[in-house]
Amino acid sequence: MEFDRRAFFAGLGGAGAVMAMTHEARADALEDFLMQQLNEDASHRGDGGVAAKKFPTAAEIDARIETQPFRRGLGNLFRASSGNVKHLAPLPAKPTLVDFFKLRFSATSNHVLQSANRAMRTGQSEEVILACLLHDTVQELIKVDHGWWGAQMYEPYVSEKVAFAIRYHQALRFYEDTAHGYVYPDLYRNMFGEDYKPEPYIEATYKMVRNHKWYLEPRMVTVNDLYAFEPGVHPQLEQFTDIIGRHFKQPKEGLGFDNSPVAHMWRSMAMPDHPL
Ligand SMILES: [Fe+2]
Ligand SMILES: [Fe+2]
Repeated sequence: MEFDRRAFFAGLGGAGAVMAMTHEARADALEDFLMQQLNEDASHRGDGGVAAKKFPTAAEIDARIETQPFRRGLGNLFRASSGNVKHLAPLPAKPTLVDFFKLRFSATSNHVLQSANRAMRTGQSEEVILACLLHDTVQELIKVDHGWWGAQMYEPYVSEKVAFAIRYHQALRFYEDTAHGYVYPDLYRNMFGEDYKPEPYIEATYKMVRNHKWYLEPRMVTVNDLYAFEPGVHPQLEQFTDIIGRHFKQPKEGLGFDNSPVAHMWRSMAMPDHPL
């Protein structure tokens, strides 16, 4: 990915403002900018896009925690990448998955559409394509442990296999499987630190999933995840209408109003400005 220096500086209020930031705040702003750029376009090669191959250590990443007013696990809907948050368009009374895609998933949709598009082009099953389409969308609500949160949010509406793929892609991301085309991405060396070691619960989950009969489902999510940033590729949600129709059980009352155990998660994304 080309790093658009001018846009980066402009987004933060000009070169003077950027120079006044601490090194850590600047590094974080850069990370946010790059993630945002992935959503907006474009010329990404699948390597995280940072030109310099100098990665922070896990300790350096940890040292940034107290340089920001929010935590890194916060959902996209609850903060602006720069400046202030904006009013959100209201959802229809009985919102569907497509409504959420169009009106709430703006930070994650291009990434997951590219991922599902690649899964479709490479002949993956419809369940894997759907898992790719949904795999990171819960990051609008919360980012930390997003595999587990995402699987929980979708579980009442998708097959067990789709939920399995969403839940466990998070752990598998940290483990290479070159036989299936998954190489550890530089993006994570930047996000977690070059010497980052996954926590024991991630390691244990990986071992369990590696020996599971459905291992390839979450693995294919990671494979399509890694190559999900392609230059000039802008897949449309309509491409997946049939798969959503066949594999997503849309509740007739609308997402958030069906009294399911996860309805509050959908309502929180529908109305993230409610103070309590
Ligand atoms: Fe993910
Ligand atoms: Fe992803």
